[in-house]
Amino acid sequence: MHNIIPITEDLFYVGGSDRRLSLFENVYPVPRGVSYNSYLLLDEKTVLFDTVDPAVSDLYLENVAAALGGRQLDYLVVHHMEPDHSATFLRLVKSYPHATVVTSAKAAQMMRNFFPFDGANVRTVKEGDILSTGKHNFIFLAAPMVHWPEVMLSFDRATGTLFSADAFGTFGALGGSVFADEVKFREEFLPDARRYYFNIVGKYGVQVQNVLKKAAGLDIKMICPLHGPVWRKDLGELIGWYDTWSKYEPEEKGAVVFYGTVHGHTGNAADILAAAIARRGAFVKEYDVAQTELSVLVAEAFRYSHLVFVSATYNNGIFFPMEQLLHDLGEHNLRNRKYALVENGSWSPQAGTLMQDLISEWGNMMRLGEKVTVLSSVKEEQAAELEVLGAQIASDLLGK
Ligand code: FEO
Repeated sequence: MHNIIPITEDLFYVGGSDRRLSLFENVYPVPRGVSYNSYLLLDEKTVLFDTVDPAVSDLYLENVAAALGGRQLDYLVVHHMEPDHSATFLRLVKSYPHATVVTSAKAAQMMRNFFPFDGANVRTVKEGDILSTGKHNFIFLAAPMVHWPEVMLSFDRATGTLFSADAFGTFGALGGSVFADEVKFREEFLPDARRYYFNIVGKYGVQVQNVLKKAAGLDIKMICPLHGPVWRKDLGELIGWYDTWSKYEPEEKGAVVFYGTVHGHTGNAADILAAAIARRGAFVKEYDVAQTELSVLVAEAFRYSHLVFVSATYNNGIFFPMEQLLHDLGEHNLRNRKYALVENGSWSPQAGTLMQDLISEWGNMMRLGEKVTVLSSVKEEQAAELEVLGAQIASDLLGK
């Protein structure tokens, strides 16, 4: 049965949520589910914005048909061709063969790559082109690499509504209300929004900044993303998060101690260091990198200002969950952080040097203190060195 949710008097939510998916993009856990958003406008012309993932396609097609109420579909606007939004494309255009598909030239090419589709009904648009549908008129904005190269956004100049594709989206299913101001966003969605941003879009901070510059010239009153809640209040807060994140600036002052331990001694060093930071009144938290899912670690590294990497030496290298984390942070362009290093090894400790080599490739990373080397287990001498390092980190955090 259809489940259509009004957004305004003539704009309707026709997407759906998947609470059974274990891994989004077959890699990111989504214990709170994920929504695949689509919106239908009933103006003099009817306009559907994007399709959905196969998980919710039956509901979606029912929603579209019910919301149209027997009217024809005039336009399908495709902002993004990643299959979580385009997989139902062919079913949709077969159901509404007279609809004109409005999309970017790159997306039109991708349609032919993904589907047996002749493209006869496609109208390609570029930045600045206008689509008038009656009371509403849409201007298109290019948003390459947010998060694929073909992405475009639509802005309804009549209502100030931005259809933002993946930008401003989040993991987390929708239930009942689709509005951010009705779902306790800060408490329930923000960690997922941060994790979604840094793991999926985070590599493309420069491109996100370009979109934010374009958005600054628009009188935006509502944001309709392809995942997660619709924003109609407190847009400055949402845009502020995106601005901080995409500039690769820390969101919060605080230290995160990431440790990779095999038998517990390296974890002991991390605990001693974290306690030395906390005892001085600075904020610190710890993660065992082998026990915490990678996308959570990535989001937390981007969240905080001071990062400590504590790793056992393993197979003459970095303990591999730590190595994976460091590679992922480098891939996502982490920069502008202060950091410290601790290594452990029973015969040839070298994780610290190898971690330093990786971090040296990142932008604007400032090392704090001396690397601490533990031989097998922490002794009084290393405990004292960890205390000194903890004091340096705390002092830097507290501005002393
Ligand atoms: Fe939600 Fe890049 O797709």
